[in-house]
Amino acid sequence: MQHRRAFLKFLAASPLFASSSAILAQALAQAPDGVIASPADALDVLDFEPAARKALPPAHYGYLATGVDSDATLKANREGYSHYELRPRRLVDVSHNDMSCELFGTKWETPLFICPVGSQKMFNPEGEMAVAKAAQATNTLQILSTVSTSSVEDVTAARGAPIWYQLYPTNRWEVTSKLVKRAEAAGCPVLVFTVDLMAGRNTETEQIFHRQDTRQCTACHSPQPGSTFRRKPMFAGVDLNGLALASPSITWEFVRRLKQLTSMKLVLKGIETREDAGLCLENGVDGILVSNHGGRAEESGRATVDCLPEVVQAVGGKIPVFLDGGIRRGTDIYKALALGATAVGIGRPYIWGLAAFGQPGVERVLGILRRELDLIMRQCGTPSLKQITTASLVSVH
Ligand SMILES: Cc1cc2nc3c(=O)[nH]c(=O)nc-3n(C[C@H](O)[C@H](O)[C@H](O)COP(=O)(O)O)c2cc1C
Repeated sequence: MQHRRAFLKFLAASPLFASSSAILAQALAQAPDGVIASPADALDVLDFEPAARKALPPAHYGYLATGVDSDATLKANREGYSHYELRPRRLVDVSHNDMSCELFGTKWETPLFICPVGSQKMFNPEGEMAVAKAAQATNTLQILSTVSTSSVEDVTAARGAPIWYQLYPTNRWEVTSKLVKRAEAAGCPVLVFTVDLMAGRNTETEQIFHRQDTRQCTACHSPQPGSTFRRKPMFAGVDLNGLALASPSITWEFVRRLKQLTSMKLVLKGIETREDAGLCLENGVDGILVSNHGGRAEESGRATVDCLPEVVQAVGGKIPVFLDGGIRRGTDIYKALALGATAVGIGRPYIWGLAAFGQPGVERVLGILRRELDLIMRQCGTPSLKQITTASLVSVH
């Protein structure tokens, strides 16, 4: 943004652009501190990040921004996309572009979905409900977190169509199965079981921001055990004594148990290797989401887009493979699709939009990414998803 401001100033001063200097001056006036003042001001989704930072108290921003340890995996997720370059093809009729894709029998306008992010009312009073309305307005697939601040029934109603439900297992099967059955009864067709956070994590950046926050956090966060669940409607009526989300003893046996429990399709979120992709197939998993929790699980140092090819190869087209992590541009989506992803998700970008501007912010983030994907598909001469293949890029590792 700073560079853009400097560039706008340079253009405004240039005699070449004398006639448009009024427009440029207006652009400068809209952003006195370099932070966008409305969703319409955003040129790309990264413009929402400083706006979210401005809108949020330090501890909440820290929770959103953090990776683990030194945030190396968080950074790797972004940098990973630069390991691939595109191979545009010319003189193809791209007057019509079809971005649609089919996921478990449902057709979507684009291959972009909304990842589960916990506690969204910490970012905006409307939280998951605002996201649901934005998802409805843009016809986007939404995945709801287990630790949501709105219930699966309310979010489904606000979305006006089925959503997918993300599962963190608890240390008590009867609570876990109740969550699953509730999602099923609410009409969720897919259960997304997150497998990458079973044994804790070290979110240092979050702690740094937390120290800068002078508010009295106990107003919302009770120091009592089980307080994580108290403001979470999915845990209403549950005996919270001794309840925990961390489930370090869980193995593939639990996956088979889940398959028996529910008729929902089962997607495993957090798979990064060919070995685990093979075990997904052996255990009847219906889809894989290649993810490292946005660099918030272990500090592997490895970008999800670099994990994708080995997972895709191991799966051999038998089940769909999805990806999230570091998607900030239409070209990032395009590269993931070219490497074999069926669809891709975003986490932080839509939360930046939510935190800064509520529902319109989320809509604008989704709209910008959709527009960028449309542009790059046409420019690369691949006007439908099936035309985007490994021939569409080259690895430059
Ligand atoms: C603040 C925050 C909270 C998250 N909460 C959850 C969650 O409750 N369940 C889950 O499976 N993943 C959660 N994630 C991970 C996202 O679903 C997703 O994997 C990740 O954000 C994608 O990377 P990106 O933020 O770079 O787009 C969370 C991520 C963030 C940033």
